[in-house]
Amino acid sequence: MRKTNLEEAIGRKYPEWVTLVVAADESGRPNAMPAGWVTFTSIDPVMLAVSVGFERYTHGLLKQSDEFVVTYPSAEQKEDVYYCGNHSGADVDKFSETSLKKEEPARVSVPLVQNSVVCFECEKRGELVTGDHTIFAGEIVAAHVAEEDLEKIYTVKGWHEKGYAGFQTIEEMARGR
Ligand SMILES: Cc1cc2nc3c(=O)[nH]c(=O)nc-3n(C[C@H](O)[C@H](O)[C@H](O)COP(=O)(O)O)c2cc1C
Repeated sequence: MRKTNLEEAIGRKYPEWVTLVVAADESGRPNAMPAGWVTFTSIDPVMLAVSVGFERYTHGLLKQSDEFVVTYPSAEQKEDVYYCGNHSGADVDKFSETSLKKEEPARVSVPLVQNSVVCFECEKRGELVTGDHTIFAGEIVAAHVAEEDLEKIYTVKGWHEKGYAGFQTIEEMARGR
């Protein structure tokens, strides 16, 4: 092994999946935030966790709410996901400004996102501050998959400079685009 700096080492962790974390304010207005730092954390019950920076609008929503939805967006949603990652729900209504469409959930009061690859409805079970982010853990209480075959998207090293073209499917990554 060769000792190196953190930038080079962290660059080797890519590709990283892209998710959207949907949470709502007290009036029920939902907001969607792209998140790469999402992972499953438990089998029984099935749980997942998302790490959210203190300064995100979504951080406040997840602090005050007991429910959230995690979706894996499809390749068709690249531009909208990019918009959501470059705007804050504190300033804009992302569901009005993008073509993302809400869909009725089964158990929670936060909407699903139509045409996602998969949506997980979560009830918040815990929080842990780690540095400048809080990890919010949720139990998955319902799940939904697309009726058609849709491709998930990932980020690769250097994706920030490429705009939404930095979000790639497995096939695009294999072709080296
Ligand atoms: C691909 C991608 C992955 C991201 N992953 C995370 C993440 O895991 N945690 C986080 O706090 N922010 C993450 N961000 C940044 C937020 O999505 C971004 O700051 C967003 O505008 C915050 O929206 P909000 O203020 O409406 O919550 C990511 C952005 C992109 C584009």
